Amino acid sequence: MCDKKILCVGLVCLDIINVVDRYPEEDTDSRCQSQRWQRGGNASNSCTVLSLLGAPCGFMGSLAPGPVADYIVGDFTKCGVDISGIAWRRQGETPCACCVVCPASGSRTVVLSDTNLPDATSGDFSKVDLSQYKWIHWEGRNAGEQVKMIQQVELYNSTLPQQHKITVSVEIEKTREPLYQLFCHGDVVFVSKDVAMHFGFSSADAALRGLYSRVKKGAVLICAWAEKGADAMGPDHVVVHSNAFPPKALVDTLGAGDTFNAAVIFTLSNGGSLQEALTFGCQVAGSKCGVHGYDGIM
Ligand code: ADP
Ligand code: FRU
Repeated sequence: MCDKKILCVGLVCLDIINVVDRYPEEDTDSRCQSQRWQRGGNASNSCTVLSLLGAPCGFMGSLAPGPVADYIVGDFTKCGVDISGIAWRRQGETPCACCVVCPASGSRTVVLSDTNLPDATSGDFSKVDLSQYKWIHWEGRNAGEQVKMIQQVELYNSTLPQQHKITVSVEIEKTREPLYQLFCHGDVVFVSKDVAMHFGFSSADAALRGLYSRVKKGAVLICAWAEKGADAMGPDHVVVHSNAFPPKALVDTLGAGDTFNAAVIFTLSNGGSLQEALTFGCQVAGSKCGVHGYDGIM
C-alpha cells in the first residue's frame, strides 16, 4: 500500500526557455542571457517535483517518436518517473513551447505549439493497472475523455474499502468551457487564478466561495494566487490560507503552479491536513521560483 504511486495525466512538451534581462519589444532582435531545453507540460512538471519529493510517480500522456521525444524520455528516466503509460502516436508532433523567463519582473511567457498530437484517450487509460496507484491527477485537457477515465477509476473504487480507493484530483487551469465539466469529478480540484478571474472573482477566497457549489460532495477546492499564496475549502466550507514564501530573489516562475500542485498532492496523499498541504505547496513553489528549473527546490 505504501509503495503505491501517483499518476499524473496530461501534457508533456519540450520547453525552449530563453532567460532575458527584460521582456523584448515586438519586432526587435535581441540576445538572451541564457537558453536551455527543459521537459515541460503541467502533468510532466508535477511528476518532476513528485520525484524530487521522493514519491513514486508515473506520467501518462502522448508522444510522437523522434528526437524531441528521445530527449523527453531521457529526462523522465533521469528523474525516475515511470513512463509505461505514455501513449505513442504515429501521427502528429510532440508539442513544443517557446518560453521567455524574465527574472527582473518574475514573468514567464509561453507560446505553445500543440496542434496535432492526439491526447491520451479513455481507451489508452483502460490499459493502466489501477492497482499500482493511490492517487491519479488529471491536468484538464480533453475533458470529455478525461471524465470517462475518471469513471473507470470510480468503478474500480466502488469495489474497494475506503483506505484502498484511488484519490482523484483535477486541475482546471485554462479558461475553456469544456474543462469546467471537470469541477464535479475530483476529490481534490485545483482551479487557477486565471479561471477564477474569468468567472469574475478577484481573490482566491472569493473564488472558493463562488465556485465551491460546482464540486462534488466532500471534495476539496484549491486556488493558488501567485505571490498572494493559496486558499482551499473543504466540505466544512471553512477557507484555509497559506501565504506565499517568496524566494530571496525571484528567478523563474515557469511551472510554479505545477510545483504547488505536486507538493499539495504529496502532502494530502501522505495523510497531511489541508493546512499542511497548502503551506508545503507554497513553500516548495516559492523555493522553485528562486531557481532556474527544478534542481535544488528541496
Ligand atoms: P502558475 O501561474 O505557474 O500556475 P500560480 O501563480 O498559480 O502559478 O502560483 C502557484 C504558487 O506558486 C503560489 O501559490 C505561490 O505559492 C507560488 N508563487 C507563484 N509566484 C510566486 C511569486 N512571485 N513569489 C512567491 N511565490 C510564488
Ligand atoms: C508550465 C508549463 C510549461 C509548458 C506550458 C504549457 O506550467 O507546463 O512547462 O510550456 O506550461 O502550457
